[in-house]
Amino acid sequence: MQPLWLFGYGSLIWRPDFEYISRKVAYVDGWMRRFWQGSHDHRGTPQAPGRVVTLIPQAGERCGGMAYQIEASKVDEIINSLDYREKNGYDRCPSALFFNDGSESVDGLFYVANKNNGAFLGEAPIAELVEQIRISHGPSGSNADYLLKLADALRLHEIEDSHVFELEHHLRG
Ligand code: SIN
Repeated sequence: MQPLWLFGYGSLIWRPDFEYISRKVAYVDGWMRRFWQGSHDHRGTPQAPGRVVTLIPQAGERCGGMAYQIEASKVDEIINSLDYREKNGYDRCPSALFFNDGSESVDGLFYVANKNNGAFLGEAPIAELVEQIRISHGPSGSNADYLLKLADALRLHEIEDSHVFELEHHLRG
């Protein structure tokens, strides 16, 4: 068993909730972050789902986030708990991870909710996304809190994302 590099681009940036050896700001190529995944279990309910981020394949795009190096002996336990945390539509996806400090890339993985999962909501006009985020609540807290914490974390780590910052601007406005 090798140490694992896990890439987080949503709540895993600001609430990793697991032990790691080191972490580095990183990105994945060919993906964009979008609030297109429904949340039945964290930021909404099955009757009134919230919206959380997933990655959408898009040539020429890159998505910034945080890469965590997990000790080999902890990998199984941490992956099991993340499989549970991300159970509402997310699958593990192996990927090359590129570090913002310019050091060599590594093989790692991230969780992605593909468009064929049952909770996928897809694209909607910005006003609709903001309204759904404004009114949704779930066991992990309000959907607004998820968006604002994500926007704060991206700013803290100097990660650009016009989609997230536009939603934040309208939510705060
Ligand atoms: C992630 O953070 O990498 C997955 C999506 C989420 O849990 O917000």
